[in-house]
Amino acid sequence: MIRRGAQMSLSLAAIAFAAVSGLAEAGGITISTAAGDKIITLEALKERYERPDAIPFPKNNPYTEEKEKLGKKLFFDPRLSRSQIVSCATCHNPSLGWSDGLPKGVGHGMEPLERRSPPVLNLAWALSLMWDGRAHSLEQQALMPITAPQEMNMTMDDVVDRLRMVPGYRELFSEAFGETDSINAKNIVAALATYERTLVSHKAPFDLWVEGDEDAISAEAKRGFVTFNTKARCSACHAGWRFTDDSFHNIGLETDDVGRGKFTPPSVAIMKYAFKTPSLRDLRMQGPYMHDGSMADLDEVLEHYVKGGRKSPNLSPEMRPVKLSKTEQSDLIAFLETLRGPSVKPQLPDLP
Ligand code: HEC
Ligand code: HEC
Repeated sequence: MIRRGAQMSLSLAAIAFAAVSGLAEAGGITISTAAGDKIITLEALKERYERPDAIPFPKNNPYTEEKEKLGKKLFFDPRLSRSQIVSCATCHNPSLGWSDGLPKGVGHGMEPLERRSPPVLNLAWALSLMWDGRAHSLEQQALMPITAPQEMNMTMDDVVDRLRMVPGYRELFSEAFGETDSINAKNIVAALATYERTLVSHKAPFDLWVEGDEDAISAEAKRGFVTFNTKARCSACHAGWRFTDDSFHNIGLETDDVGRGKFTPPSVAIMKYAFKTPSLRDLRMQGPYMHDGSMADLDEVLEHYVKGGRKSPNLSPEMRPVKLSKTEQSDLIAFLETLRGPSVKPQLPDLP
């Protein structure tokens, strides 16, 4: 993906940078991966974080503009909820980084949910959904909030009946699905999922640096990137351009929620209290963080990783205490900030 001409200047930059970061030993960087330690060049390390060029859509729900347009209206439409005041965007609000800024989501009946609302970005690539991975596709996932009593508290039959009453929706569904009577549960979730797949992080300063623009991020952030991949071992779990391995880990938080453990045999101790590794792209710098919104800021998060999490037979073997100086910690935060792209808010749709 990197242009040939750029390759040379990248390797020179790598040498200069390795000298800056004090990691020049043998011209390589020792990174930690789930499969063990490995020595690679800075250039090769950056390549691991290159963004893909195109969004993948599944064969059984291919992209069309009409489905995206319909899905966007459904996503922002509170009529999908019993009370007609809760839409998907209530908890996945583009102005709040596609989440809600709350420690735990609040839906029908204003009761807090059990977990934090994750942002709905870059999910076209996700291998499993929900903090515990209980949904396997965006189509399957979309049924859950609509029918959950504490979220939108509807039945799919009631949603279908309601949308059938709206002439504008009858038109949009037949444009998207080419039939006269195409308002049904399957097509509702197909359209929602298509729209969600188009929600992709905008290019962040970090991406420009990966593409070869040395001035795109600060020296602190560059040091933070190396620390992230080496000493701090963050990349053992927050790997690849989405900064997640799509896997589940118990990072040693105090919690009664068994997370992934609900779906794995009790013998798999490390899946008890394990949650899906969240992406770190477009991370809200002011928190709250974690599946339960229990951490208020990034200093608290880093302090947790320095201590290595609460010891238990369920703790991930990738979690171990690591001494990080104040500078290393502020470098890491400077790096995380470079993963934030411009906050381009979508134009809100006119509802039919
Ligand atoms: C009341 C708040 C609320 C509403 C309304 C809501 N969600 Fe969510 N959403 C959540 C919470 C909380 C989770 C995490 C649940 C869990 O992991 O157990 C979540 C998880 C998700 C995920 C999984 C993300 C990931 O990274 O795994 C997707 C996708 C999603 N919601 C889409 C939707 C769509 C589509 C709608 C509308 C049909 C919707 N949500 C409505 C709160 C909400
Ligand atoms: C063992 C795998 C693992 C390692 C190593 C790891 N993380 Fe995490 N990280 C996770 C998981 C899993 C969560 C979510 C945990 C939860 O909510 O229960 C998480 C949550 C976070 C969050 C909160 C994100 C959010 O949206 O709430 C941040 C920030 C974060 N990690 C940064 C880091 C940094 C920085 C490092 C290195 C110092 C690191 N992580 C090391 C797996 C890991």
